[in-house]
Amino acid sequence: MKIIHISDIHLTVPGEEMGGLDPHVRFNQALRHVAEHHPDAARIVITGDLAHWGERAAYEALKTAISGLNIPVRLMIGNHDDRAQFRAVFGDHPIDPHGFVNHAETVGETRFIYLDSVGERTHAGHFCSARRAWLAAELESCARARIFLHHNPMPLGLPAEDKIALIAEHRAPLHALIRQHAAKIDYIHFGHVHAPVHGVFAGVPFASVPSTGNQSLPDMNESEFLQGAPMAPAYFVICTEGKDTTIHQIPFAWDGPITRTGTGWEDWAKPTVAAE
Ligand SMILES: [Fe+2]
Ligand SMILES: [Fe+2]
Repeated sequence: MKIIHISDIHLTVPGEEMGGLDPHVRFNQALRHVAEHHPDAARIVITGDLAHWGERAAYEALKTAISGLNIPVRLMIGNHDDRAQFRAVFGDHPIDPHGFVNHAETVGETRFIYLDSVGERTHAGHFCSARRAWLAAELESCARARIFLHHNPMPLGLPAEDKIALIAEHRAPLHALIRQHAAKIDYIHFGHVHAPVHGVFAGVPFASVPSTGNQSLPDMNESEFLQGAPMAPAYFVICTEGKDTTIHQIPFAWDGPITRTGTGWEDWAKPTVAAE
């Protein structure tokens, strides 16, 4: 199965730039690339920061952009989003009994669990006891799961970035819950970092995907300022086979030269007769 993972599209009110680029152009470029190269994908999963400032017009633009796709799209919110505005535009979007944008579905043999890790007026992630109870019930009732959310649930060794990770108070109990069900959770996928980071959390492998807009620079010394740059955007193609996962990072905006070479030995070998 192929799953497309896109994140941090940061859509603005159409016409407004974000970080020196038009996020709508980038997002639509990514969607066209997916439609052309991966029409067989089972899902497009967008892990939050859908809008840059949470305006209604940004969500309406998102709704229009994804309306004609043949691949089902699943949405999560991030710290830049406004839950009420999101729900006003996506009125029939599933929520949990507390109004959080937690939702889940079974795709093939696996429960895809989409989490709402947003706190009020903070860039840091929150996953309170009510949300944990919802996740616990999901994990208890399924045989296999794959988790998607916006925030990194773990610190990454980047002092400034770690200030806006999932708060420590909520991290420990989530870690315990994940650890308890680690044997049935194939992977944790998130965004927020605007960079590819990979590792293992509570016994479960994880991966964050770059943004379709600006990227962050990993700085293991800076403790105050987040640093970004208009480096190459990407989305992920997550390929699953049973419990196995392979993740490809797709540099969809690359428009420079591309070389082509065969895979046979002679296609790569150094010429045996040196030029005279
Ligand atoms: Fe973001
Ligand atoms: Fe974020």
